[in-house]
Amino acid sequence: MTTIDPSTVPQRTLYTGAKMPAVGLGTFGSDHAEADEVAAAVRGALKAGYRSFDCAACYGNEAELGEVFAEAFAAGEVKREELFIASKVWNDMHSDVLAACRKSMEDLKLDYLDMYYVHWPFPNYHAPHCDVTSRNPDSVPFTVERFMKTWQQMEQLVDMGLVRHIGMSNMTIPKLEAVLPLCRIRPAAIEMELHPCFQQPELYDYCKEKGIEIVGFCPIGSPDRPARDKQPEDISDIGLPEMKAIAEAHGVHPAVICIKWAVQKGHTPIPFSLKEKNYTMNLKCVTEDPLTDEEMEIIRGLDRNNRLVKGQVFLWEGANDWHDLWDEDGVIVK
Ligand SMILES: NC(=O)c1ccc[n+]([C@@H]2O[C@H](COP(=O)([O-])OP(=O)(O)OC[C@H]3O[C@@H](n4cnc5c(N)ncnc54)[C@H](OP(=O)(O)O)[C@@H]3O)[C@@H](O)[C@H]2O)c1
Repeated sequence: MTTIDPSTVPQRTLYTGAKMPAVGLGTFGSDHAEADEVAAAVRGALKAGYRSFDCAACYGNEAELGEVFAEAFAAGEVKREELFIASKVWNDMHSDVLAACRKSMEDLKLDYLDMYYVHWPFPNYHAPHCDVTSRNPDSVPFTVERFMKTWQQMEQLVDMGLVRHIGMSNMTIPKLEAVLPLCRIRPAAIEMELHPCFQQPELYDYCKEKGIEIVGFCPIGSPDRPARDKQPEDISDIGLPEMKAIAEAHGVHPAVICIKWAVQKGHTPIPFSLKEKNYTMNLKCVTEDPLTDEEMEIIRGLDRNNRLVKGQVFLWEGANDWHDLWDEDGVIVK
């Protein structure tokens, strides 16, 4: 097994001064990988040198991951303070964030979290494994008032010392413009979908300007994403001829080019893999053989505004279609 010295992995500095590795391991099994398989990947990734893990209650595996962390601490393999562990409050727990956070901490067997995100800015719940047509009749559109009630509970978690940082996910510029001035504790990071065919340049620059770290999900274009997130018009990032050519020049899989590009661009990808060879390479690749400026420029040109996680299952009664979730006309869709 290859081991990467964690001190060679680039680090991001959050506004608190805390460090976060510039690559984390995703832990969403995309509705097909079982919890014990994901736990085995986390066990292997820890040994390979990963120190950052992107968890969430709705991934349904935090209890299994908690066993892995506890074993690693007990074996003296790693210390708690060497890890950066994130979790997220799921949409059905926005009105009791403290209970959600305590449950994740209990499952993960941790006495604090490094980051806790609001997973989606809607309290709209969908059942695990549901299909794209699934709608919850109780779903509602975003409102600033409702979101801030949730965010104030997030802020209390920081006050209580349960979490070191709080963050948001699946946000848009109009939503951020409305809520950031109301935050007593600003988000330290925002998780958003980011891969070569979906670069979100405006939101990206907005977060950079505000000093918010950018964590990119689906960094490889999530080839095994759930069926509800697959549409015929979607483009495969790793299938693009430009990505294949760059990969060939570096003697790696195009997935690895996605990770190098993300880290060199300045955000933090959280790739998922069950395979030792792949997750090891996804970390190792940011410590060696960087992309050239020309290659970075070629990938910049691959943006196709191809959002993969469209979020149809979060739509409310009266919404038109998934575009309503993303405020594409610059105003919050109600
Ligand atoms: N905040 C949110 O709403 C949100 C939404 C979606 C995802 N996320 C987070 O983001 C993480 C990553 O997203 P994702 O899991 O959807 O997709 P992803 O990381 O873009 O893609 C994962 C897929 O890529 C393959 N892969 C990984 N490394 C590879 C390599 N070096 N060579 C070839 N194939 C490789 C994996 O297959 P193998 O297992 O075969 O290697 C897996 O099928 C999630 O796990 C989750 O933690 C957050």
